[in-house]
Amino acid sequence: MKYKERLRSVKDYIRLPLCYNHWYVAGTVEEFGQEPVAKTLLERSIVFYRTEAGDLVAMQNRCLHRSFPLSNALREGDNLVCRYHGIRYAPDGTVVRVPCQDQIPNRKLHVYPVKEVGPFAFIWMGNPDQPDWKKISGIAVPDRPRMPNGA
Ligand code: FES
Repeated sequence: MKYKERLRSVKDYIRLPLCYNHWYVAGTVEEFGQEPVAKTLLERSIVFYRTEAGDLVAMQNRCLHRSFPLSNALREGDNLVCRYHGIRYAPDGTVVRVPCQDQIPNRKLHVYPVKEVGPFAFIWMGNPDQPDWKKISGIAVPDRPRMPNGA
């Protein structure tokens, strides 16, 4: 079946793999601070926060254990600590601590490449190992976004 025949709604359209391998504006750089915030992009819930060094992190907003939203996690240094059972995640998505357990599972949250360009934070929604850095480095953005009210 061809794509055209499968497309009946916007949701069908954004499920196409070709839509994921692009940079998208996730928000303005001021929107993201050290406290985790959730956004849904292309039907994926993503948690954003900044490390103590100010680097922007974007990762799946679901704990690997019981899917608790990590946008409600505690920030501990650069890590996020799930408030449900306390699994701790590093900014690269790796599990760094599981309470009451010596063995750390070799599991990882999906982490999205991000790049701040001018006033915008861009996110790569496709394969995290293959972001097209050339596309984002050539992008022209205004110094400050124009608001709908003209401000
Ligand atoms: S749901 Fe996150 S640690 Fe259990």
